[in-house]
Amino acid sequence: RQSGLTALDYGFVNTASTRSAVTYIDGDQGILRYRGYPIEELAQQSTFLEVAYLLIYGELPTPDQLSEFDNEIRRHTLLHEDMRYYFEGVPHTAHPMAVLSGGLQTMSTYYENSLDTAVPEFVEVNTIRLLAKLPILAAYAHKKSIGQAFLYPDNNLSFVENFLRLNFGNKAEKYVMNPVLVDALDKLLILHADHEQNASTSTVRLVGSTGANMFSSVSAGINALSGPLHGGANEAVLDMLAQIRDSGQSVETFVEKVKRKEDGVKLMGFGHRVYKNYDPRARIVKDSAAKVLQELGVNDPLLGLAQELEQIALEDDYFKERRLYPNVDFYTGVIYKAMGFPTRMFTVLFAIGRLPGWIAQWREAREDPQTKIGRPQQLYIGSPERHINR
Ligand code: CMC
Repeated sequence: RQSGLTALDYGFVNTASTRSAVTYIDGDQGILRYRGYPIEELAQQSTFLEVAYLLIYGELPTPDQLSEFDNEIRRHTLLHEDMRYYFEGVPHTAHPMAVLSGGLQTMSTYYENSLDTAVPEFVEVNTIRLLAKLPILAAYAHKKSIGQAFLYPDNNLSFVENFLRLNFGNKAEKYVMNPVLVDALDKLLILHADHEQNASTSTVRLVGSTGANMFSSVSAGINALSGPLHGGANEAVLDMLAQIRDSGQSVETFVEKVKRKEDGVKLMGFGHRVYKNYDPRARIVKDSAAKVLQELGVNDPLLGLAQELEQIALEDDYFKERRLYPNVDFYTGVIYKAMGFPTRMFTVLFAIGRLPGWIAQWREAREDPQTKIGRPQQLYIGSPERHINR
């Protein structure tokens, strides 16, 4: 028996690690609110930068505040020119998520004289640097992976337009800034912007609790997000759909395999620790997927396959009993694919969306006088005391 051990809680199913005023979720009702505002309203009526401001500073910005925030971000989009050696050094086969987290950590070395987390002005400027530069790193991770030249940011463009141009602006065919894509991507970023104490956000807070700076904490968050049970699920969903299509097996056969838990196969993009009802983000994404594909004139059989899979799963007792519904990742990949992103970029897009949440939660923890270094306990099950006997 160990002294001081109060509870064993694998996966933190019952333990709150913090108080937070950022995001509210009611998993039974399927409710998600940022700073009190329902996700549906924000997705309909605001932009990603407004939502980022809301999450980080607690209120929606006035027009003046928004324009100052936007201008500040535009002013900070350039990466240090020497960062090109970082991108030269990584293989083009590297996963863009690894390139993103490594790139962020590398980038922080250019700001070593302004990393002290005790200085509020440094926290402010690093907030802006992160928001401005992570999308640039992400676009370059994409370009590196397909062997194309990097473009410099064009600060006359909006946040999302700039990002799309950096990703697609030097394609051989004529590049057109499509407002349907801009709007759809802006909405998707809003839907991903925060989700209270999920694994990556908890990672950001835990790393931050040691006094580590915002770049290091967010870089750790990106790594936590990369796993297939978390943000990596959007990539895994597309791989799963493609596999079903290529194998020629029916959707029913695949679902039966999932139910038998054969080879640990799961229905990727289904289930959630918190939502025991339809994920409100998935509802919006599903509508958006059909609209975007239609407006772009893309006819992707994977969308039909996803719809068929959802229909079968929702009517099946296995999924009903376990209250498994599509989550945000189920339909996002189909949209990203239609936009032209390679599958390995999908989780990178999630990371850009989640960035304001990570920043807001890191800052909230920093300002909370009750924050302590995170240090879970364990229940020791190893050998009792023994001695070297030579
Ligand atoms: N397909 C088949 N069975 C599932 C699935 C699934 N996707 N998810 C959960 N189950 C089963 C699980 O096997 C278990 O069954 P049993 O009671 O017979 O052992 C039961 O449902 C409860 O699942 P759990 O693993 O205890 O649930 P959890 O809260 O620990 O895990 C989850 C949540 C999201 C990791 C899990 O549902 C999962 O692996 N889903 C697939 C991956 C995925 O889509 N992840 C994205 C999550 S949303 C985006 C984000 O914010 O990260």
